[in-house]
Amino acid sequence: MIYADDAGPDGKFRRGAGVIYSHRVKITDRPSQIRSRAARGGGEKRIAQQHAKGKLTARERIDLVVDEDSFTELDAFVLARPTELIPDDERVMGDGVVTGFGRIDGRLVYLFSQDFTVFGGSLAEAHAEKICKVMDLAVRNGAPIIGLNDSGGARIQEGVVSLGGYADIFLRNVMASGVVPQVSAIMGPCAGGAVYSPAITDFVAMVRDTSYMFVTGPNVVKTVTHEDVTLDELGGADVHARKSGVAHFEADDEVSCAALVRRLIGFLPSNNLDPAPVVATDDPHDREDPALDDLVPDVATKPYDMKDVIRRVVDDGDVLEVHEAWAQNIICAFARLDGRSIGVVAQQPMVLAGVLDIDASIKAGRFVRFCDAFNIPLLTFVDVPGFLPGTAQEHGGIIRNGAKLLYAYAEATVPKLTVITRKAYGGAYDVMSSKHLRGDYNVAWPTAEIAVMGPEAAVNVIYRDEIAKAKDPDGRRRELVTEYVERFANPYVAAARGYVDDVIEPRETRRKLVAALRSLAGKREANPRRKHGNIPL
Ligand code: HXC
Repeated sequence: MIYADDAGPDGKFRRGAGVIYSHRVKITDRPSQIRSRAARGGGEKRIAQQHAKGKLTARERIDLVVDEDSFTELDAFVLARPTELIPDDERVMGDGVVTGFGRIDGRLVYLFSQDFTVFGGSLAEAHAEKICKVMDLAVRNGAPIIGLNDSGGARIQEGVVSLGGYADIFLRNVMASGVVPQVSAIMGPCAGGAVYSPAITDFVAMVRDTSYMFVTGPNVVKTVTHEDVTLDELGGADVHARKSGVAHFEADDEVSCAALVRRLIGFLPSNNLDPAPVVATDDPHDREDPALDDLVPDVATKPYDMKDVIRRVVDDGDVLEVHEAWAQNIICAFARLDGRSIGVVAQQPMVLAGVLDIDASIKAGRFVRFCDAFNIPLLTFVDVPGFLPGTAQEHGGIIRNGAKLLYAYAEATVPKLTVITRKAYGGAYDVMSSKHLRGDYNVAWPTAEIAVMGPEAAVNVIYRDEIAKAKDPDGRRRELVTEYVERFANPYVAAARGYVDDVIEPRETRRKLVAALRSLAGKREANPRRKHGNIPL
């Protein structure tokens, strides 16, 4: 609080017990004058340094993310708490973070944007309180919270209070999880424990060359493991978007990062109770696409691009991939069907034959859970030869990691549409939104092969003795494989059981899916009441 009584004769505030004051504020100033001073953050020199690094300021970033003139700032006058280590005239208004609310395509969002020009955007008590305030408002008012991160971490001068501030944010991240979408854009350093707030949020976007995330920096790494590594090699955007999976999106610069955040928000509902926005489309609901009929090659081992299938089915071919560069054997993407947002999960036969491995299971498991939490229907395209064999996977825990995806699909109560385009073998058949996991509308293309395992492997197991005794073992194996394919590696055995609801011509996929999605508009399904399940984390 600033009290007028505390102003000295020079118009500056006097130091007094419990009184917050600033040498930059005179009681005679108009709010707009004070506000424009606050807007300068750490000052022109530091703003110039920020620009010289190819980075924008906190306010410039907000302007890129929200609709023009839609931002309302809160707490611009908040001051850092007095500490022994920071002179009073260095306690910049706003305390290194710009917070408030604005609109994206007319829809309410809350934001915080760390200001690197003030103590390197470091997080202190007042800074954390400002972030907590907008997080609380976002949850209370049912709107997404977007964090634009650019910070040197805990403000060293404030010590343990900064750590407390982080924990206050972490707690709110967890409480907001599944209630409002949380998006983190990393636009500078994000290090130490600070990385755990973005990690809890639903989506992390990083900017190539200017952002990095790590728990311990290159110096500590050198001391502990004797590895020489640069900032970028350790925790740059490429590393997290391609290797670790920490980043869901990677942008070339801050402008495209902001555009990406806006596009992402467009697919999402504002909260877990509201529907996602419906976007009118000229793409006919019953559009047939003959090219789909020939897309799956005759030879079962030949790949094709599943992204082509997805683009041909969804509205206007408009797809936003999540984790595009990580675990590419599975595709996770937002798209729309009949104007409604859907989450698409699909094997990519062009990468590792679309096999399910640890990373793919984790990637898709988290995506499925996000969609379920926010009532976004799931559309799954299946072409999976199974789980990836080998010691690396087994020792890495493919059992508990694969179980994540199984768990996620099983608990999901949103409308679930499944199209088996080709292979659906073994446990992977069960996992991939099968009828048994409460798939609502499961169909197969005529090219589907649904069986316990692929023909070669199956024949080698069940006819091992017969093949060994045959005069021409290879010839006999080929005969048995052909027989097996005819008998089992087709969709009709599953269709006879009702495990798939229909076998459809690929060209009619869009029409059938739209009809099914419309039929599921009123779907009501609930899991048993409990504190929470115990997903194999
Ligand atoms: C106070 C900080 C600061 C911090 C940077 N600054 N980090 N002030 N606390 N954590 C200040 C600098 O002193 C400098 O002030 C200004 O911000 C800009 O910093 P530079 O070093 O000039 O910028 P740059 O060269 O771009 O380097 C950025 C940086 C570096 C890599 C982030 O500043 C850095 O290493 N900072 C310390 C990072 C750190 O160890 N943080 C604590 C992490 S532990 P002047 O006045 O000189 O311009 C942590 C625990 C959280 O965060 C736990 C949560 C549970």
